[in-house]
Amino acid sequence: MIDYKLKQHGRASLDFLASLGPSMASLIKKQTEELTKAGLNEATLEEDLDKRALQIEGKLKNLPAFRSQNLLGEWHSNNHARIATSAFNEIENELIVKFDKLQEGKTSLKLNPSIQIPKYYKYPIHRTTGGWDGHEHMGFIHGELIHRKIVGKALTPAGGTAYNDINSDRLKFASAAPRRDYKTILEVGCSSGPYTSKLSEVFPSSRILACDLSASQLVHAQRNGNALGYAWELFQADGRFTGLEENSVDLFTSYIILHELPVDIISEVLNEGFRVLKSGGELFFGDVAPFSAMDKLSSWRTDYLARYGGEPYWRGSATMDMISEMKKIGFIDIKYKGMEPKNYPWITFGRKP
Ligand SMILES: C[S@@+](CC[C@H](N)C(=O)[O-])C[C@H]1O[C@@H](n2cnc3c(N)ncnc32)[C@H](O)[C@@H]1O
Repeated sequence: MIDYKLKQHGRASLDFLASLGPSMASLIKKQTEELTKAGLNEATLEEDLDKRALQIEGKLKNLPAFRSQNLLGEWHSNNHARIATSAFNEIENELIVKFDKLQEGKTSLKLNPSIQIPKYYKYPIHRTTGGWDGHEHMGFIHGELIHRKIVGKALTPAGGTAYNDINSDRLKFASAAPRRDYKTILEVGCSSGPYTSKLSEVFPSSRILACDLSASQLVHAQRNGNALGYAWELFQADGRFTGLEENSVDLFTSYIILHELPVDIISEVLNEGFRVLKSGGELFFGDVAPFSAMDKLSSWRTDYLARYGGEPYWRGSATMDMISEMKKIGFIDIKYKGMEPKNYPWITFGRKP
């Protein structure tokens, strides 16, 4: 990965943002206590998500712990991209020199300037200004600063190294694929390559192709692939229309993309997987747990944070009938289950007969 050093201002601002997530724990605890006091529990909470939201949010709306969490969340959503971009601007000149050097290497990239960007994708996901392509260098800004320095750091267990936790989940997931002899692997929605690099670690002899809609993410993925010495074949494509030949792929895989897709798009991506997979080939997707695997309070909280955190498609993917969808497409040996200990990553697996 790219070696760089942030300036003090950028580093401190990103550290501050990363510290906001964990600091919410005590606010969430207070909300749970309030709901318990009000007699809201698994037995009394509504089944229907919208009715449950009214029930819970009605109870919490004047609670300082809820209002503070909302204020902090709102501030985080509105400012994380601005702060990360400003941290980037402070070191841009040094980085550009490194970027140029990392264009050379074994990883190839085919961009498609006439690609059709779908309407659902124009939503600023995570409320990040401009979404995945909001800045010429969004690949670096998102991959290295927002994902690694804010999200990754916030999720790192005490005593771990930054990015340790969030990235070891990717490795754990890739290692859980049933075989080790996939000749050709296609990853959909590779972003700047954090899961791609885990695929390379677990399957060092496989040919690895990876696509994404975002040019700026792919440009940064190429730098990461080159920095690590991998020969990834990156290309800009919609995961629904990869342009690959039928029956040409042994493993069709992705990590945390499903919850960012509307349900009809998920179905089209799965269909594309079925088309490009060889007979006996496997679809292996990792994502967040469906709401059916959570208690009612946790699924409300996930849904609430998704609604206000710029994840408009999360609810659809977390409530869709994935097993029926996979069966309808023709997959067999379907598995839809969480990994220990926290049901994360959640595995969607199927084999093409
Ligand atoms: C949350 S990121 C996942 C990135 C990566 N797999 C990881 O492990 O972090 C979702 C990625 O999916 C991409 N994406 C969304 N819709 C897509 C589509 N229809 N086809 C290809 N990529 C898509 C986005 O551009 C983004 O880079």
